[in-house]
Order: sequence, then structure tokens, then C-alpha cells
Amino acid sequence: MVLFLLLDLMHTGNSSLSAEGLKMSIIQNDQFAIKLGVTGRVSHRSDRWDEVCYGNIKQILITHGDAINSIQLAYDYNGIPILAHRHGGNGDRFDCINLLSWETLTVVKGYYGPVGNDGIHVVLSLTFVTSGGTTYGPFGRESGTPFCFNIRNGVHFWGFHGFSNSSYLCNIGIYVKPTAEYKHHFLPQPQKFVAAVSACKAS
Ligand SMILES: *[C@@H]1O[C@H](CO)[C@@H](O)[C@H](O)[C@H]1NC(C)=O
Repeated sequence: MVLFLLLDLMHTGNSSLSAEGLKMSIIQNDQFAIKLGVTGRVSHRSDRWDEVCYGNIKQILITHGDAINSIQLAYDYNGIPILAHRHGGNGDRFDCINLLSWETLTVVKGYYGPVGNDGIHVVLSLTFVTSGGTTYGPFGRESGTPFCFNIRNGVHFWGFHGFSNSSYLCNIGIYVKPTAEYKHHFLPQPQKFVAAVSACKAS
């Protein structure tokens, strides 16, 4: 009975999350975070970055023009303000979003598409919506393929990840963390699935 329940949980968990674009989940400090994205295809001309568990975001700094050139985040890490690395390069314009201490991100959306003649995709536009209902953006250029990370229903924003080079923010994704405290995390390992099925049949 218990084993059947486990299979059901694993099954519904996987299918509902994959519809949202689940690629991977991670466990950090005994807490698990779900990694969503990245947007578009990844080019070999960019480097991967990850920023998770740095604390509450205080500021989002963006350089942009005909695309998003860079994103840089300032965090409140247990009362200490820290400025993280800039991901990307210079742009024609610069904007800074100042979040209030209680504000969190509820929507991260935008567009991706080709920026030059090489047809390689980068993030063209970014818009952020916060728990206060404020919309910041769009920054960059709204054309190409739209994407949207909706942070609702039992999860909250936990960090960004992506790919960038010295000119552009090429891809972006987010981490979300379940609001509930889960004690166990089942990895979608095929061999465990098979073992559980045969155990059910034997009993
Ligand atoms: C950065 O990445 C974009 C998209 O992949 C590419 O078009 C551009 O040439 C890259 N720039 C550098 C300096 O590698």
C-alpha cells in the first residue's frame, strides 16, 4: 500500500512539474530547490552561472539595448548587502530595480531570439513582477519567442541561473523552492521505480 502511494506521488510529481519545464532539482543545505529553464538553446559561446541561496534580492541591475546585455543582482545576505558578479556585458542603456525588503519576484518573463546575423539566441527582453503587484520593464526589445516563469501556488523564488558571455545574457532560468517543508526528496531514478513495482507484485 505504501509503495503504491510512493509511485503515485512520484508519477504526479513528475508529470505536473515537467509541464512547467522541469529540467532538474537540487538539494542544498537539506532544502530542495527546483530548477526551471533555461530559455532557448545554449550556445557554446557562453558560460554557465548559478546564483541560488544568496538571500533576498535588493536590486536588479540591467544593461540593455537591442537585447539584454547583462544582469547583476544585489542581495541582502543576513543583513549584509552583497553585490554579485555581473553576467554579460555593456549595453546602451542601464536600469536598476529597487525591491522593497518584503517584496519577492512572482513573475519573470520576456523574449529570446537571435540578436545578430549568426542566428544564435540570446535573451532579448526581461520583465519582472513582484508580490507587491509592481511590474518592472520590459527592458530590452520585445520580439522573438516569449517565455514566462510564473512563481505561484506553493513555491517561491529562490534564485537565478543562466548562460552569458562578455556581450549578452544568452539564456536565463530560475530556481524555486517549495513553500512547504518536505522531509524526503525522491529522485526520478528508473532502477528505484522498477524495484518498487516488483515489490508491489510480490506482496
Ligand atoms: C555571445 O553570445 C552570442 C550568442 O551566442 C554570440 O552571438 C556572440 O558572438 C557572443 N559573444 C562573444 C564575445 O563571444
